[in-house]
Amino acid sequence: MKIAVFAGDGIGPEVTREAVRVVEALNLPDLVMFEGDVGGVAYKRHGHPLPAETLAIARSCDAILFGAVGDPDCDQLDRHLRPEQAILGLRKELGLFANLRPAKVFAGLEDASALRPEVASKIDLLIVRELNGDVYFGEKGIRTLPDGRRQGWDVMSYAEDEVRRIAHVGFRAAMGRGKRLCSVDKANVLETSQVWRDVMIEVASEYPEVELSHMYVDNAAMQLVRNPGQFDVVVTGNLFGDILSDQASMCVGSIGLLASASLSDGKMGLYEPIHGSAPDIAGKGLANPMATILSAAMLLRHSLGLEAEAARIEAAVAKALADGIRGGDLGGNHGTAAIGDAVLERL
Ligand code: IPM
Ligand code: MG
Repeated sequence: MKIAVFAGDGIGPEVTREAVRVVEALNLPDLVMFEGDVGGVAYKRHGHPLPAETLAIARSCDAILFGAVGDPDCDQLDRHLRPEQAILGLRKELGLFANLRPAKVFAGLEDASALRPEVASKIDLLIVRELNGDVYFGEKGIRTLPDGRRQGWDVMSYAEDEVRRIAHVGFRAAMGRGKRLCSVDKANVLETSQVWRDVMIEVASEYPEVELSHMYVDNAAMQLVRNPGQFDVVVTGNLFGDILSDQASMCVGSIGLLASASLSDGKMGLYEPIHGSAPDIAGKGLANPMATILSAAMLLRHSLGLEAEAARIEAAVAKALADGIRGGDLGGNHGTAAIGDAVLERL
């Protein structure tokens, strides 16, 4: 079993270190970890945010544990050299098209949510976000119009097969949960969304037990705040999923607690906290590593088939939270290493 560990920028190295300690504590036989540079740090060392060596490490492993990328120093670089290209490149190169972003309120943390506790406590949803298509990977550019004005443009598109494969991920996820799937689109305005919706309806016939509903993305944003408890599995495109998953994280209370998996057709997956590199607190030992530790649990479950070990890690994190271990993101004063220690003790 080979895990690539790409810590990246900002708080990435700090939070990844704790997740690695937790995985090591399981003493799994035959598990080897390999480190690689990604993001701004990779640009500074190798001249590219996703160097060929890093991609080769990724390809030789079963799964990737990813920290975060993003570095304000790099904001002025050409787009293809910016840190974010590391994660976009890995998603594309490795065919990681299905992004699972679960959002659930931990017992005892109902007050951390930006929503009223009685509303927040009902959240238990999974966002299934398509990750290889949409306006993210369409042609784009900046051109000058005949009258001299600059115009930025990005092409949004989805082909049927791209929608079909993410639809199956959504339906299968719903089968394993509450059997309700809400497809989010903007079919009242976008042709891309019309194809999306048609394919969702077509695939639904293969999953008669799942109740499929459709929601426009603006309404979904509103419903997520009004009554998030209504959602079981939400399936949506790359751009809408990016936005709604950040929103869902704040409904839960802390972006420092949410893990994610980006899966391919096979066992290969990339696992990362959904928070970013948080340059403002980087290097200070303040970041909450729980989201990365929970991402490592998802890695063990989805890529290595180690369900029991994954559940042990999740239980240890839940116990630490129940015992009052709180990072600064939750108004507490436990630092990165202290939280890692607390999870390890309970493991
Ligand atoms: C995410 C991030 C990325 C995205 C950025 C870093 C490119 O916001 O994983 O949600 O937009 O997909
Ligand atoms: Mg995002």
